[in-house]
Amino acid sequence: MTWPQSQDFNEAIQNPRSSFGDSELRGGQAAVNTIGMPMPRSGNFADVYEFHGASGQKWAIKCFTRHVPGLQDRYAEISKHLDQAKFPFTVDFSYLAKGIRIRGECYPILKMQWVEGFLLNEFVRDNLDRPVLLESLGQIWARMASRLREAGIAHGDLQHGNVILVPGSTTSSLAVKLIDYDGMFVPALASKKSGEMGHANYQHPERLQQGIYSAEVDRLSFLAIACALRCLAVGGKTLWDKYDNGDNILFRETDLRNPTTSALFKELWKINDPDAHELTGHLVMALIGPFGQVPSLQDLLSDDRVRPCILGAQGNTPAPVAVKTKPHIKAHPIAAPFHSMWADGWSAPGGQFNMLSATRLMDTDFAQWRLWGANARDRHPEGHPVREKALMFCSAMNAWHTTSAILERRPLSEELLEQMLRPLKESIDSLVADLMRLGVSPPEKLNDTKVQKNTRRVGSDQNVLRR
Ligand SMILES: Nc1ncnc2c1ncn2[C@@H]1O[C@H](COP(=O)(O)OP(=O)(O)O)[C@@H](O)[C@H]1O
Ligand SMILES: [Mg+2]
Repeated sequence: MTWPQSQDFNEAIQNPRSSFGDSELRGGQAAVNTIGMPMPRSGNFADVYEFHGASGQKWAIKCFTRHVPGLQDRYAEISKHLDQAKFPFTVDFSYLAKGIRIRGECYPILKMQWVEGFLLNEFVRDNLDRPVLLESLGQIWARMASRLREAGIAHGDLQHGNVILVPGSTTSSLAVKLIDYDGMFVPALASKKSGEMGHANYQHPERLQQGIYSAEVDRLSFLAIACALRCLAVGGKTLWDKYDNGDNILFRETDLRNPTTSALFKELWKINDPDAHELTGHLVMALIGPFGQVPSLQDLLSDDRVRPCILGAQGNTPAPVAVKTKPHIKAHPIAAPFHSMWADGWSAPGGQFNMLSATRLMDTDFAQWRLWGANARDRHPEGHPVREKALMFCSAMNAWHTTSAILERRPLSEELLEQMLRPLKESIDSLVADLMRLGVSPPEKLNDTKVQKNTRRVGSDQNVLRR
């Protein structure tokens, strides 16, 4: 048998008496537009009709436009878990296996309470000038994340089309409802697979690639939407207009795939608001790290504030391990393009800060400068001001070395890198200036073979620093 097409469902919906088995639906009728036609909302694999039942109650009738194996069992398990969890943000439904008759055959439908409200993107778009409202939405969002997490349940496809906002009479009575449970994760389904990967504009690239289905699948979407809400509360309509494509909330799949080169992420990172800034940092880190290390929103918040995004220390997320002992920042995807732009010679440290110096410092220049510091230290006795400064210089250089080694493993944007390395670079620069003021002459440019030979010596500096 061939599965019915949208047109078949559309015709069937218009003849409820002959199409439905359910008495509430048999005696009702589909909502129609001004020319008297039913108006399906089409998602990926379903057409959903607003339907007025015999009792006067409004329903969403979901007709599946393809066969989904195991759907009935899935919905049975989901229903059990949701009944138990009693979330305020889910909607009652029943799966009717023989819901709709088309050309003599019965097909399943989902009969769900109709939610009167606005899809998340419509709601945000219409309230860009009400930052307080967006903020309270952000708080509701975070509470919802906690409730789902505590119950071990994940929606699986958190995106604008599956979140409906029901405005109340006051800001505080705003209610959020989740719909579309096709991809939901509940503990009883843990051993099963799901064909739903979620809307790509809200997913971690690794999930899309590997078809991950677990209790953690909502984490990235919760974080992305929380970040977008906060950024939009500050950036308002100007920000929205620049990135809205009708099917997203700020982010697109390509931003999530390539956060370090995304113009959007650059812009968000610069927003002058601590929470927006930190959430952006957390999101970038989550995207460039593995799926398994995406933090939950709960881990990132304390007392309704966002924890600072510190490299390798995201809430409960384990810090990156196995930092290579001999880092080569050249391999850094961000660093690579800068090498060609690097002006040869002694421009760092002491020169203007730029990422070129940050990355290039890891190469021969870095070794040369470290050697320069080590020499200054060794040529002066204990307690001598040059020795004191040189010791500080050597430890700052080592800190640089370690930090860069960690950064190498994280393809951060130029801005992010600069932000994180700037204080260290500034202290290195000022130590260089101090040493020169104390009479240490600037280093000579060494030829490459000499540098390579000396690099090994420089490696032993580590001991000095522990003294
Ligand atoms: N219970 C509901 N109340 C109101 N609108 C709904 C409801 N269920 C679905 N819709 C509308 O239909 C659209 C598609 O439904 P959805 O279940 O998300 O299908 P898909 O799985 O194809 O994404 C939704 O984005 C929403 O606009
Ligand atoms: Mg949907």
